[in-house]
Amino acid sequence: MLIQAKEVKLKNGETLILKSPTPDDAQKLLNHLKNVFNQSYQNMNHPKNNWDNFPVEEEAKILTDFASSSSKFMISAFLGENIVGNLCCFGMGGEFLKFNARIAMGLEKEFHNVGLGTAILNYAIETAKQNKIHRLELTVRTFNEAGIALYEKVGFRRVGILKDTAFIDGKFCDEFMYEMLIGNT
Ligand SMILES: CC(C)(COP(=O)(O)OP(=O)(O)OC[C@H]1O[C@@H](n2cnc3c(N)ncnc32)[C@H](O)[C@@H]1OP(=O)(O)O)[C@@H](O)C(=O)NCCC(=O)NCCS
Repeated sequence: MLIQAKEVKLKNGETLILKSPTPDDAQKLLNHLKNVFNQSYQNMNHPKNNWDNFPVEEEAKILTDFASSSSKFMISAFLGENIVGNLCCFGMGGEFLKFNARIAMGLEKEFHNVGLGTAILNYAIETAKQNKIHRLELTVRTFNEAGIALYEKVGFRRVGILKDTAFIDGKFCDEFMYEMLIGNT
């Protein structure tokens, strides 16, 4: 699924474009992922250097797969030619679960706390509503105060705590599970 371009103005006065990255954007997306994982790997699901040697051709294949899929989409935040934030929404498989989708996102540090998280997540919720998703879910580490603030602000509800789900820098970390019912049946 390819999501069309939408302009957003941030609290710091900058204007960005939210849209799906295409296979031509593979290198830009890899550059962005390298930055986010370097800055914030403790909040993510892979180590700091996960994307350092990831082949651009493989990333282009992933983006081709997203573009042709009816059950998943990405929304990237473009500042000029650079990607500075990205969100993935993955629909679940199986006849009984196909109305569920899971969200994962990350922004570069220079774009924290200026409204980009809210803008990109609200655009994803709007897109999911238009695409027959009934329920969204996500997990966030219990120490990720910015993530928790964002998810609660846009209306996700905390449904529980998952113990020891990640092993990072030599210790286990807990995660909160959040969900949002968005109404499609
Ligand atoms: C988590 C993340 C997406 C949050 O985005 P963001 O930049 O804070 O989003 P916004 O600027 O829209 O802020 C949303 C709300 O959270 C609040 N907030 C931001 N940082 C906060 C912090 N550290 N503690 C408490 N609240 C915070 C903001 O004040 C804002 O509320 P307001 O609009 O009422 O003022 C961003 O910090 C990030 O990408 N972090 C690194 C990767 C990551 O953690 N990904 C998520 C993994 S689950």
